[in-house]
Amino acid sequence: MTIHPSAHDPRDIYKLLIGSVVPRPIALVSSLSPEGIRNLAPFSFFNAICSNPPCLCFSTGFRPGSGQAKDTYENVRATGEFVVNTVSESMAEAMNLTSGDYPAEVDEFVVSGLTPVASVFVRPPRVAESLIQMECRLQQIVVVSNRPSGGALVIGEVVCFHVDDRIIEQFRIDPDQLLAIGRMGGNSYTRTRDRFELARPNVSPTPSPK
Ligand SMILES: Cc1cc2nc3c(=O)[nH]c(=O)nc-3n(C[C@H](O)[C@H](O)[C@H](O)COP(=O)(O)O)c2cc1C
Repeated sequence: MTIHPSAHDPRDIYKLLIGSVVPRPIALVSSLSPEGIRNLAPFSFFNAICSNPPCLCFSTGFRPGSGQAKDTYENVRATGEFVVNTVSESMAEAMNLTSGDYPAEVDEFVVSGLTPVASVFVRPPRVAESLIQMECRLQQIVVVSNRPSGGALVIGEVVCFHVDDRIIEQFRIDPDQLLAIGRMGGNSYTRTRDRFELARPNVSPTPSPK
């Protein structure tokens, strides 16, 4: 089947995209409004993009009907700060509770029962239950499309990593302790327990011509 996106409803193309780009890691993003209201929401259009300096990005959509921006986007744009918290299996239901379309005045820490803990370098709190919490300063926002179902890419520099001592050794994270979950299409998720190893090809340098 050949599908031309411009000939279809963006909602169908969304389904196609989230079923095709799998599995996706999940950022549980905490932010603060300029008035100091806490916000927490998951984003699976998320990845690491640079390690020097360490940078992450996630994309917040503009709501399909109204084109309205999400609270996370407004908060990060206004304050320049956020925290990316990892999501382990044990946190799946609480993470999902934070994803409801609550009004901006609602504090999703309260809704989900997740525990806020003060950050060191930024104002938004971290999520105590997350085994890795990354304090971020906004580097740039790229508005990819401001149509309904469009989105904006938020790029942040990690200014501090907080890692649970039980899951790290010499900077290596133990995936069997982290037990991260990923997002698939629809309402599906995946665990990260079934893995395999592949060494990269060892390519010797081509001898230079004499
Ligand atoms: C696992 C998961 C991943 C999600 N990923 C995204 C995403 O990448 N981009 C997005 O705009 N919304 C995503 N959502 C929906 C938002 O979390 C939801 O719209 C939320 O209400 C936004 O909250 P806010 O308005 O407080 O920022 C996701 C929801 C779930 C459950």
